[in-house]
Amino acid sequence: MSVPRSEYLSTVWKDGIFANRVLFITGGAGSIGSAQTRAMVHLGADACIIGRNAEKTEAAAKEIAKVRNGARVIGIGNVDVRSFDSLKAAADRCVKELGSIDFVVAGAAGNFIAPIAGLSPNAFKAVIDIDTIGTFNTIKATIPHLIDSAARNPNPNEAGTTGGRFVSTSATFHYTGMPLQSHVSAAKAAIDALMGSVALEYGPYGVTANSIAPGAIEGTEGMERLASSQLDKRTMTKGVPSGRWGSARDIADATVYVFSDAGNYVNGTTLVVDGAGWRRQGAV
Ligand code: HXC
Repeated sequence: MSVPRSEYLSTVWKDGIFANRVLFITGGAGSIGSAQTRAMVHLGADACIIGRNAEKTEAAAKEIAKVRNGARVIGIGNVDVRSFDSLKAAADRCVKELGSIDFVVAGAAGNFIAPIAGLSPNAFKAVIDIDTIGTFNTIKATIPHLIDSAARNPNPNEAGTTGGRFVSTSATFHYTGMPLQSHVSAAKAAIDALMGSVALEYGPYGVTANSIAPGAIEGTEGMERLASSQLDKRTMTKGVPSGRWGSARDIADATVYVFSDAGNYVNGTTLVVDGAGWRRQGAV
């Protein structure tokens, strides 16, 4: 059964705005990543989904391609974002098969619940490697293609679309500190800092680089891990001023905004999509 649009994209966007553009996304088979990819493909883009698990990645690509007649969606498995060489090979294959890379989402992430006393140095490093180094590797592997895309599309097309946009996946834990998440807090703070430098170095080429920081998103592997431990779901929901957990669609809509012409002047910043949850997260 196909996934209804209401699960990955609101009705405000115009069909075709991303026609003739290509999305490259790491972690694109996950719950948030597949909603982001579905949304972009629905609106006209082709896509390359990058993942560690070949079977899961290829199955997700096949499923997402059903969103739009004629959509080309390629799943490239056996790619670990900790390996620059395998990411670069994936980026080169994406350009060879689909013609360009115009938009990038660095969505691959690792997480588990552990106090500092229960984290070995290698456990802390594992999350820094996947989240921070993985995001660095993703920007390094794709930046030449994003610069090309921005150069080829200096003005928005008829649908208002340009190219050369990078979005990383952040979190809000480092705004307040978060128990049992020291590794993720540190990794995501570094990602935000990295986006600032990318924006400064590549803004003059027409490239934009931003973070999207999701709050508690329903149905994700990350929240299953967090909420099934001492952070109970009901308590967490009460702590969100908007009164609900977020959905994968909330993050997909934010991604579409940043990649669309409406987000043209948004550069080097973090878009927090969390129902103002972080403003109370120290208190839950
Ligand atoms: C303490 C742990 C641990 C745990 C693993 N380790 N799980 N330590 N508590 N629960 C330690 C291991 O003992 C090892 O240290 C080190 O971490 C690396 O573990 P490996 O299994 O060898 O690493 P690897 O196979 O690379 O797996 C990485 C991983 C794993 C992060 C540990 O969970 C993973 O691959 N996750 C990807 C999927 C995922 O996490 N998705 C959720 C993302 S959600 P030693 O010292 O023994 O060698 C997300 C959202 C956050 O990020 C924000 C929410 C708002």
